[in-house]
Amino acid sequence: MLITKGVKGAQDVLPCAVHKNQFIESSMLDIAKKFGYTEIRVPVFEHTELFQRGVGGTTDIVQKEMYTFNDKGGRSVTLRPEGTAGAVRAFLEHGLFNEPLPQKLCYIISCYRYEKPQAGRLREFHQFGAECLGTDSPAADAEVISLVCAVFDFLDVQNLDLQINSIGCPECRKTYHAALLAYFDVKKDGLCPTCLDRLGRNPMRLLDCKSPVCSEIAKDAPVILDYICGECAEHFGGVKRYLDAMGIEYNINPKIVRGLDYYTRTVFEFISGEIGAQDAVCAGGRYDGLAQELGGQRTPSLGFALGLERLLLLMDAQKTPFPEPDRCDIYIAPVGDEASLAAARIVNDLRLSGVAAQFDLAGRSVKAQMKYADKLGAVYTAVLGDSELEKGVLPVKNMDSGDVTEIKLEDFAEDFMDMSVRSSADMFKELLNTVDIDINTILGGALS
Ligand code: HAM
Repeated sequence: MLITKGVKGAQDVLPCAVHKNQFIESSMLDIAKKFGYTEIRVPVFEHTELFQRGVGGTTDIVQKEMYTFNDKGGRSVTLRPEGTAGAVRAFLEHGLFNEPLPQKLCYIISCYRYEKPQAGRLREFHQFGAECLGTDSPAADAEVISLVCAVFDFLDVQNLDLQINSIGCPECRKTYHAALLAYFDVKKDGLCPTCLDRLGRNPMRLLDCKSPVCSEIAKDAPVILDYICGECAEHFGGVKRYLDAMGIEYNINPKIVRGLDYYTRTVFEFISGEIGAQDAVCAGGRYDGLAQELGGQRTPSLGFALGLERLLLLMDAQKTPFPEPDRCDIYIAPVGDEASLAAARIVNDLRLSGVAAQFDLAGRSVKAQMKYADKLGAVYTAVLGDSELEKGVLPVKNMDSGDVTEIKLEDFAEDFMDMSVRSSADMFKELLNTVDIDINTILGGALS
């Protein structure tokens, strides 16, 4: 084993790419805030039983994929495979149900599942999730879905297919399970071992099997929407009416059953045709019985989680533009020990004033420092030597325009900020002039 090689299925985000994650994460939290969601932070591990009870004993996650271990006190704990169970546990533990409902919580978390790694499927991955706890209104289902749409819209992610379904309540599901059992029972010889195993425990999951033989067998299986009770049908009708009212396009896919046991009624997935087999970029649904399952009051709720790695794969495939990473505002290249001390003082003043400033920490030659400044994308550079120290003035070069401005060393930070604000205003004016717009009309003379 090479200790300089990371664990299989876990990814590093390198400095050259981290601005993408930072941009999508901050956008998501900002948008969620506008929908009334507040961030919740819960521990990365929980008692194993929380996931066994919450996610469900018949799921792949609980049966095969959890990172579970005994801590030194002999308690079984598990790295969270998803965020819903932990959020509902915190909601119950801290009495958030006593606050005005619904409680709207969101999170960006790492999750852990021991799955076979492939493109879009990792063992450590990240989710942006939102949970709306304490409402059974179909308006909430549409609102949660509209939050996902707003995120995709803001990030300019295209071509996602929103598929929705209702898997009913435990009552109407009993009749449906009986119909599925009858249907699959006569065809069971062709089923894969996993489906055979699931048949007795959770027959709906047979609709989810990716094996071509099982998919063919499941093709004509009874459809849940023909079996849901009046109340669930009415609820689903309400969800569709709200989605229509919001102008959100969707397709009804009665085969969506979801891989976690807590779901009831509405379930949905946002599917992409551009990222390979792991095509669900975001998924979610209602879990009206989960709080009760965990020992709390009945708390009808729903939510979703959006996989950050899959989203980034899709954005790369679509060549979605990202804002440029922040550049270094100014690089000061000192020559000699005294200049280095002066540069340290100036750079520190600049930083305290909010300017992204750097100076040499490696004893490089001026040439090497300029190369380094170029790598940093420094907007301004300055070489600080004995003669500049003597004159008390530092010539600062704008690396985009080539213009040089002399700034007194004494009040460098303040004067640099004035100068750079002035020169960006000049560039702005120039830009407007080139497109033949009268700047005074727009700004009422504010810049002139
Ligand atoms: P999930 O379908 O298991 O649902 O996961 C949600 C999303 O997480 C997936 O659509 C995918 O984008 C991402 N994801 C899942 N597993 C992996 C993996 N191994 N590698 C990379 N990305 C992955 C849940 O987790 C529910 N807690 C969603 C939810 C919240 N339902 C209600 N509230």
